[in-house]
Amino acid sequence: MIRRVYAAVVKTIGQGPVYELVDVPQPTKNQVQIQVIAAGIHKVVRSIADGRHYVKVKTLPFIPGIDGVGTLPDGKKVYFVNMAPPNGTMSQLVNADENMTIPLPENADPVHFAAIMNAGLASWTALTERAQIKSGETVLVLGVTGSSGQMAAASARLLGAKRVVGVGRNKSLLNQLVADGTIDVSVPLDDDDTKYQELIAKEAADVDIVMDFLWGRPTEIAMAGIHSGRNDSSQHLRWVQVGQMAGATIQLNGGFLRSKNVELIGSGIGPISMKQMLQSLQRMVPMVVEGKLKTSVLTIPLKDIESKWQETADAKERVVVVM
Ligand SMILES: NC(=O)c1ccc[n+]([C@@H]2O[C@H](COP(=O)([O-])OP(=O)(O)OC[C@H]3O[C@@H](n4cnc5c(N)ncnc54)[C@H](OP(=O)(O)O)[C@@H]3O)[C@@H](O)[C@H]2O)c1
Repeated sequence: MIRRVYAAVVKTIGQGPVYELVDVPQPTKNQVQIQVIAAGIHKVVRSIADGRHYVKVKTLPFIPGIDGVGTLPDGKKVYFVNMAPPNGTMSQLVNADENMTIPLPENADPVHFAAIMNAGLASWTALTERAQIKSGETVLVLGVTGSSGQMAAASARLLGAKRVVGVGRNKSLLNQLVADGTIDVSVPLDDDDTKYQELIAKEAADVDIVMDFLWGRPTEIAMAGIHSGRNDSSQHLRWVQVGQMAGATIQLNGGFLRSKNVELIGSGIGPISMKQMLQSLQRMVPMVVEGKLKTSVLTIPLKDIESKWQETADAKERVVVVM
């Protein structure tokens, strides 16, 4: 039986979605039908819908969204991933691969989970699966004031980091993150490159892991600071490229790679398999339920998607559509 439900529908790449009725067929053999409660408009969701992402949508119209929280026909709550354009997750009903779901406890807040799991991929999963963080290590987070950056700092702590250094351009938020213990030391991103480089050399030259949400110029300067200040050239440094808020490319000094034990790795769907991602996120669930990992959320009703999509593009909170 085909069911007609409301969804966010993108008709032209770059023009944002409209609120419209769509047909949802019966799920196939390996699918489950999910009554969606909430789905996040993550950065990746916007960039796919705008045609800026390396994932290109080939069929129009399409429903945006890559994950969400909903209930199975038996009422059980699940987080699910559905990266199969044109059928994204911003729909009241979604047919998803049954292997792409994570059970959530009854008391899990669906909106919070819809917001936080993508930030978890960029932080918790990147730290465990890509950086393979060990207890007692020091972590530098470039872009710590963003939602994924704050999650990376909090996750690093929960995973045993001894010291967390955070770089960002919002000085009052940096101070707050030091005050509430999310990070030990902050390094403000300064217009004065020399000052920023000196601070990195002083506070972060001996880090074990860099979680890089910025790339571009701030990364080039941070690399120069670590290059100049690092004491033990054999100490293993994992530089994890997670986001590119400050630029898509960098100029990389070859001497940095030859003179220090640096491993430059990326994190995202590709180097991390879907199975690995779901297993890792499943291990994160109790941390979220217990309030040890959290993020701030802005909710919008699905029926207002057309006006709110653009209006919330620069929101500081993670934006979640509630069905
Ligand atoms: N690879 C993955 O698995 C994965 C998963 C999720 C997200 N990501 C990526 O991670 C990045 C952060 O995502 P998010 O959701 O955490 O975003 P967010 O909450 O919007 O945070 C973005 C952060 O970037 C900072 N920023 C923006 N432009 C900057 C610039 N030119 N120089 C310095 N800082 C700048 C912002 O600083 P202000 O606060 O000062 O504006 C803010 O702290 C994005 O690139 C996203 O695509 C990757």
